[in-house]
Amino acid sequence: MEFSIKSGKAEKQRSDCVIVGVYESAKLSEAAASLDKASKGFVETVLKRGDIDGKVGSTLLLHSVPGTEADRVLLVGLGKHGALAEKDYRKAVIASVKALAKTGAKNVANFLSEVNVSKQDAAWKVAQMVEAARDSVYRFDAMKGKKDKEDKQAKGIEKLDIHVAEKEVNHETKEALKQSAALALGVSFTKDLGNLPPNVCTPTYLAEQALSMAKTYGLTVQILEREEMQKLGMGSFLGVAQGSVQPPKMIVLQHNKGKKNQKPVVLVGKGITFDTGGISLKPGEGMDEMKYDMCGAASVLGTMRAIGELKLKRNVIAVIPTCENMPSGHATRPGDIVTSMSGQTIEILNTDAEGRLILCDALTYVERFKPAAVIDIATLTGACVIALGAVHSGLFSGDDALAEDLLSAGRQSQDTVWRMPLDQAYHDQLKSNFADMANIGGRPGGSVTAACFLSKYTEKYTWAHLDIAGTAWKSGAAKGATGRPVPLLVNYLLA
Ligand code: BES
Ligand code: MN
Ligand code: ZN
Repeated sequence: MEFSIKSGKAEKQRSDCVIVGVYESAKLSEAAASLDKASKGFVETVLKRGDIDGKVGSTLLLHSVPGTEADRVLLVGLGKHGALAEKDYRKAVIASVKALAKTGAKNVANFLSEVNVSKQDAAWKVAQMVEAARDSVYRFDAMKGKKDKEDKQAKGIEKLDIHVAEKEVNHETKEALKQSAALALGVSFTKDLGNLPPNVCTPTYLAEQALSMAKTYGLTVQILEREEMQKLGMGSFLGVAQGSVQPPKMIVLQHNKGKKNQKPVVLVGKGITFDTGGISLKPGEGMDEMKYDMCGAASVLGTMRAIGELKLKRNVIAVIPTCENMPSGHATRPGDIVTSMSGQTIEILNTDAEGRLILCDALTYVERFKPAAVIDIATLTGACVIALGAVHSGLFSGDDALAEDLLSAGRQSQDTVWRMPLDQAYHDQLKSNFADMANIGGRPGGSVTAACFLSKYTEKYTWAHLDIAGTAWKSGAAKGATGRPVPLLVNYLLA
């Protein structure tokens, strides 16, 4: 979908559809009033017939409205007359795009961006419209048969003109458009990677994506193979990988567009392309969803894509340990002890706690970049889903300033995080009789002890951990990746 910022009269738009808002009790938005005047009261007449009540998100499609140049007019309910709440604006915008999905309208002029939203400016409204529009037309049909694809391709908006007042066609709104379009691209890339089946989206596939992104955006890329990782002493990561026939990869993708001496932000993403649990096998029901166990990696790649599009003047490095967690004759057993790159030994009491085992070596590896901050993103624990559900991602950090920045980026992007504890008191749960630590800390505080485990590998730099197990994908009828926390990460990097 293409976007542009426009200003002009609703009745003068030569498009397939003009979208204008109406309030409850038949009150018209400015654009709707302008249409009404041009059509000599046609809009009012329709409203009086009572086919649309003006409730937020209600819609009514009109054809060949007299006195207007567009083929169609879509009326969209905005609720009670007056400034809209943020969430109502979003709801109305989503409804407007959804209503057109089933029509033949391709070029669309949306005037909802002209209505007042409390406490928000035109730039915000533009950004929200871009993101909501992209989101509501997102489909994942890469794996559908040819016929299904052709049926769907015929429909859908191709070009969306976002209308604002004349004086608001300025640098701010244009920047907002650019940023939100780049973010939307990153989000949909992340969703695609997450939604791909695990027999396609393998560690090798993720590495290929990084290689092709490096070409497109002029990034530096390095893929570490098993032999190199053996030399580096990544016994913990390779222990997880050894049960699978898929070769593990460590992807290092560098966006070096900031000042030479500027310390980089490093993003580390968990890339388990399928998590069976290993020898500590997971129950069969719903196991297909463990294809999403690479959503941390996918969100890091999506973020790199967004900042690549924006040519962001910062140094950002993505590091992705990626492999499968499979049971086999080669797999690690409960009781096995591995030595991590840091030198610390780990007793594997449960092979299903594999995320931390691949992340710990990646977290040691990134020390070489002398990072300003390291943020790891992982679908790490079921316990985090129990604690926070699908609303907030879990945020763990010993650094208050970094935590505050991430909390604020979450609020601004509506991709929120909730801060969780990391107290020393939880560390006792990770004690092992035979190694430096165990890889599990029991059921109580499971997301916290997982974060505590990681913290033992991050003492040399400022670090935060995001547990996205509850937020990275949806289950049920609308099963699919959400693209979170790409909005949060891009917002954080832009700040
Ligand atoms: N990938 C899972 C975490 C997960 C579970 C994410 C459910 C989303 C939904 C992770 O590798 C895992 O299996 N964690 C275990 C840890 C336990 C063995 C200490 C868990 O959460 O059950
Ligand atoms: Mn697991
Ligand atoms: Zn996992």
